[in-house]
Amino acid sequence: MTTRELNDFLTQTGSGTAMGDLLRRYWIPALLSAELPEPDCPPVRVKLLSERLIAFRDTQGRVGLMDEFCAHRGVSLWFGRNEEDGLRCPYHGWKYDVSGQCIDVPSEPEASGYCKRIKLKSYPCVELGDAIWTYMGPSALKPPLPGFEWALVPQTHRFVSKRTQECNYLQAMEGGIDSAHVSFLHRHDLRSDSLHVSRGAELTRETDARFEVIETAGGMLIGVRRPAQPGHLYWRITQWIMPFHSMIPPYGDNALNGHAWVPIDDENCMSWCFTHHPTRRLTEPELTTMRNGGGIHVKLIPGSFRPVVNKDNDYMIDRAAQKANRTYCGVAGIAMQDAAIQESMGPIQDRSRENLVSTDNGVIMARVRLRKAVQAMQQGREPDGIDPVTHMVRSASIVLPENVSFYEAAADALQAKEGVAHTSV
Ligand code: FES
Ligand SMILES: [Fe+2]
Repeated sequence: MTTRELNDFLTQTGSGTAMGDLLRRYWIPALLSAELPEPDCPPVRVKLLSERLIAFRDTQGRVGLMDEFCAHRGVSLWFGRNEEDGLRCPYHGWKYDVSGQCIDVPSEPEASGYCKRIKLKSYPCVELGDAIWTYMGPSALKPPLPGFEWALVPQTHRFVSKRTQECNYLQAMEGGIDSAHVSFLHRHDLRSDSLHVSRGAELTRETDARFEVIETAGGMLIGVRRPAQPGHLYWRITQWIMPFHSMIPPYGDNALNGHAWVPIDDENCMSWCFTHHPTRRLTEPELTTMRNGGGIHVKLIPGSFRPVVNKDNDYMIDRAAQKANRTYCGVAGIAMQDAAIQESMGPIQDRSRENLVSTDNGVIMARVRLRKAVQAMQQGREPDGIDPVTHMVRSASIVLPENVSFYEAAADALQAKEGVAHTSV
């Protein structure tokens, strides 16, 4: 039973909260590299874990991520002038470098050294896999760089997008762990979305799905089995990696897909969507499909990360399509079906009123692991999922004989191996 207190504990990630402290121990995808396309380009507002920040790329190409507001009298540095290795506040000209250090206060004599005493809170950034990652925790505990396969394959093998979602990160993430909904919510898209169609997609339409959850060093495996040919089972194996990464089991020769669910604040999150193929470039038709909102990606309102289909237009629900079995819930597109359903639970679902069943075991385990990770952190131990070795895993879909342990039989398929394609049916 999730009490209100536990619900608050799991969903609040602002500065000084327990979960907020935990998330600040990991590298966090903060923005797309493409949002800061060149030196001295316009700065970008970034809200992460309820903190309002400004990101900019200086004249030398270095990325800074710091407090959005000028230390003088609080103007948003979004209006700033990004020039000559720093961001200058347009109100009275105070200027900051990528570390947040103030390097010029025009009103004060340079000899006074006044500006040296002014520094905005800032966070270190790295660029990896077309994303700018930041670390918001204590500097002495900064972990090694992330080891996710999608971020390490050649750029030609990868497509990354992100979209805002109007609900708490945990709610979105729990959708990523809950493989049972696929046979219902996405059932008709499994036959129509070109990035899903496969034998596996057909087998996934079977609603007799049984769950097995296995804890791993970095998180857990969620194995879901459905009937295949006689004597065999079709297993879809999801990886969840602490604190907010999930890897979706693949379909046929289609690429691998995954998500990171990053809190913007307690009532909004950024859904990062990663598609990659370990051994080949993504094809032009695949890229075109994704840019047009196919697969796990969505069409966005130009100049924003808000989906075109959203709460304000009732997700453009099409009741005729729902009745005619073209979509199960009336919303078009796999990603927006998830988003619509999850946003409908309210900005922060009241978990004290839910009734969990056996297919929710993954969701239950994730909550347990997050609590344990907070305990570990508070006792001075390293939380799980920080070691990049725990990131070097894959999801898989595989047909196995009945009566074998799925995680032993699929052990090889669940490791990321350079130059080796994923296991997929
Ligand atoms: S408020 Fe930024 S320089 Fe005055
Ligand atoms: Fe889904």
